Amino acid sequence: MTTVLEYQTGFGNQCSTEALPGALPIGRNSPQVCPYGLYAEQLSGTAFTMVRAENRRSWLYRIRPSALQDAFKPYGGATQWSGDFGKAPVTPNRLRWNALEIPAEPTDFIDGVHTWAGNGHADDQVGIAINLYAINLSMTRRVFYNADAEMLFVPEQGRLRLATELGRMDIEPCEIAVIPRGVRFRVELLDQTARGYLLENYGSPLRPPELGPIGSNGLANVRDFQIPVAWYEEVDEDVDMVAKFTGGFWHTTLNHSPLDVVAWHGNNAPYKYDLRRFNVIGSISYDHPDPCLFTVLTSPSDTPGAANVDFAIFPPRILAMEDTFRPPWFHRNFASEFMGLIQGVYDAKAEGFVPGGASLHNCMSPHGPDAETFEKATAADTGQAHYIRDTMAFMFETRRVIRPTQTAMEAPTLQQGYDQVWAGIRKHFNPEKR
Ligand SMILES: [Fe+2]
Repeated sequence: MTTVLEYQTGFGNQCSTEALPGALPIGRNSPQVCPYGLYAEQLSGTAFTMVRAENRRSWLYRIRPSALQDAFKPYGGATQWSGDFGKAPVTPNRLRWNALEIPAEPTDFIDGVHTWAGNGHADDQVGIAINLYAINLSMTRRVFYNADAEMLFVPEQGRLRLATELGRMDIEPCEIAVIPRGVRFRVELLDQTARGYLLENYGSPLRPPELGPIGSNGLANVRDFQIPVAWYEEVDEDVDMVAKFTGGFWHTTLNHSPLDVVAWHGNNAPYKYDLRRFNVIGSISYDHPDPCLFTVLTSPSDTPGAANVDFAIFPPRILAMEDTFRPPWFHRNFASEFMGLIQGVYDAKAEGFVPGGASLHNCMSPHGPDAETFEKATAADTGQAHYIRDTMAFMFETRRVIRPTQTAMEAPTLQQGYDQVWAGIRKHFNPEKR
C-alpha cells in the first residue's frame, strides 16, 4: 500500500518541520552541537543579499553533510538533455508535435528527459529549458540534483513520487511540483509509466504573480501550495549521485543516501500545487483577456513586466462574454509561447493538439484559432454561457525566443503541415455589406 504523504501549506513560508521530535535547534541555526548528532547545513536559493521578500534559504539538519562526497566524474550514460540552444537562426514557422512514445527499454527519469527547446544559458542564470519526459522505471540507488535550474514538473500521464532531501511529494496529472535548484531527489513511479513536461528555470525562482487590481485573492491562492514535511532515510549503502552543472552531467558514488535530512526550516523548499484549484478570473462583459490573467507562477527577469518565464494554464471555465469572439483571438506576440496539453481539448484548436503533445509559436509568428474554431465561434449564440469542461492546457511563455533543439526538429512526432490548420480560413470581406 502506498503511504499517504503529509504536507504543510502556503507559499514562501518560513516553515519548520522535523521527522524526530526536538531535531530542530531552537534559537540558533548552527548550534555548537545539533540534536541527535545531526549536521547543520544551509541551502540558499538566492543571493545572500536579496531583499527579504525575495530571499530564499533553508537550514537542513542531516545525518551527514553534503560535503561528504568524492570527486565527480563525467556521467557515462547517454542523456537526452541539452542546455545549448545555439545561435543559428530559428525557423519562424509554427511548430506542433505529437506526444513522445513511452520507451521500450527500461528508462528512468535521468535517462527519459528529452530537451525540446529553450533559451538563455544556465551560466548566466537567464532563460529556460523545456523538456519532455517519458519513463517506465523508478530511480533506485541513485539520486539527482540540478545546479543549473529550478525544476517544474507538469505530469500528463502517470503519478510520480518525488523523494527529495526536504521531504516527499506525490503528484498526478493536473498537479505540478517545483524542486529548487540543487535539491537532491529521486523520481519514483507510482504507476507503470509516466509522461509529461519538465521546465528548467535558470532565472529567478518561480512565485505566484502579483495580483494588482485583482486584490488579495484569486488565481493560485497561496494556501493551496503544499510543501513536504521533513522525512529521511538512513541508508548506509552505495548510492550513485548524478549532477547537472553548466549543461553537463557528472556522477559520484556516495556511501549513503543523501536523502537524510531529519529536520529543516526556511523558505527554500520544494512544493506542489493542484491546478484544479486555480481560481480562474476572466471577462464578465466582453472580449477575451490577455493570457497573463491565467498565470500560475512567474519567474521575473531584471526588466519589470518582462518575465524570464510565465507558467499559465487554461483550465475548465465558463465563457459568458457577450457579442464577443470568445476563444483566444488571432495574434502576433512579443513573447514566445510553448504550449502543452495535460488533458481534454484546448478551446482554440479543434484537433491535432493532443495530450502530451506540444506547440511552439515564437516571437511575431501569427497564430490563433484554427478555421473550424473560428467558424464555430463566430456563429455561436453569445447570449448563452459556454462551459469548457474536462480540459487542462498550459503555456510556458517567455520574453526570449524559444529555440527548438535538433532533437525536436528531427523528431518523428513533429507534425508536417501544421500551417494547414489555418488554411481553411475564408475571406468574408465585402465592401458592399457593412
Ligand atoms: Fe498565443
